[in-house]
Amino acid sequence: MSINSFGHLFRFTTWGESHGPAIGAVVDGCPPGIALGEADIQPWLDKRRPGTSRFTTQRREPDQVRILSGVFEGRTTGTPISLMIENVDQRSKDYSEVALAYRPGHADYSYDAKYGFRDYRGGGRSSARETASRVAAGAVARLVVPQVRIRSWVEAIGGDAIDYAAFDDAAIDANPFFCPDPAAAARWEALVDGARKAGSSLGAVVACEATGVPAGWGAPLYAKLDAELAHACMGINAVKGVEIGDGFAAAALTGEGNADAMRPGTDGPEFLANHAGGITGGIATGQPIRLRVAFKPTSSILIPVETIDRTGQAADIATKGRHDPCVGIRGVPVVEAMMALVLADQALLHRGQTGR
Ligand SMILES: Cc1cc2nc3c(=O)[nH]c(=O)nc-3n(C[C@H](O)[C@H](O)[C@H](O)COP(=O)(O)O)c2cc1C
Repeated sequence: MSINSFGHLFRFTTWGESHGPAIGAVVDGCPPGIALGEADIQPWLDKRRPGTSRFTTQRREPDQVRILSGVFEGRTTGTPISLMIENVDQRSKDYSEVALAYRPGHADYSYDAKYGFRDYRGGGRSSARETASRVAAGAVARLVVPQVRIRSWVEAIGGDAIDYAAFDDAAIDANPFFCPDPAAAARWEALVDGARKAGSSLGAVVACEATGVPAGWGAPLYAKLDAELAHACMGINAVKGVEIGDGFAAAALTGEGNADAMRPGTDGPEFLANHAGGITGGIATGQPIRLRVAFKPTSSILIPVETIDRTGQAADIATKGRHDPCVGIRGVPVVEAMMALVLADQALLHRGQTGR
């Protein structure tokens, strides 16, 4: 069972635990001849890196990537690309309570139920430390589809949403929340600070858009592009919902209200709306691919929560250690990476079937 792998032709596998010596990814199926160096990957890891503001976990990880294989004289060889990131700032003693009792909402109980034995240090394999490996693999994927532009942002924190009328692309990287609405970013400072100081946490909605995806990528029915993207994003830690285009809101529309009306354009059709999020019949229409991802609030909180211990006895748990007060913020580069990984795979699948 290769449950640690994702993708069909452009396929990656991640490995490693939060407090082990290192984590990493093996990317297999990358086309040969693509210029690739660590400098192509590092900026994306820096975007996800912890400890960059008081609104993320204070774990200090440099997240320096090393390419161990698959690249010769600065170009991919078509063989497996092995990427490694060392863990340097583990504090396993912070997690002694997690060894004995289960954090409600985290994976402690379910991992024990499945495996009967787990590396509890920092959440082990269930830690979102793993997402650094995906971001590294995603950086390689971006190079396979250079014609695609992917951008992602936080749309809401703790139920407080941005105003899309105030959307400013340049603002996204200018505040610690990846927020395109400066007024919302200012509100979120107090909101996230409040949650952090109270020992609580908040959920978030992350939006992602990919432009430059040619009409025709994707596949019908059992391999719908919608399903591939949902699979990719639901596999991210703490994600509890994915919507493509209007998603659940489409169910409240009429047929004419939901129609992405078409007119002849200069280069293919011109669409007058994009309720479908750029995908119909599982296949890209050439419009921007749009999705939204719901991140639940961080489970590890200082406020005590009722639980049970490993022997089944009632207990309370308050999780010490360093945690993100809102995991959705650092989810932004992870969602982008999963979008890139799916689209690189789709590009190769489309070429394989159609020759284009
Ligand atoms: C970027 C990122 C950082 C995270 N950091 C934490 C954290 O500090 N503490 C925590 O309890 N959960 C954190 N999580 C979420 C857990 O990893 C996740 O809830 C856990 O593995 C259980 O899986 P599930 O929520 O998908 O069911 C984070 C998630 C992401 C995406």
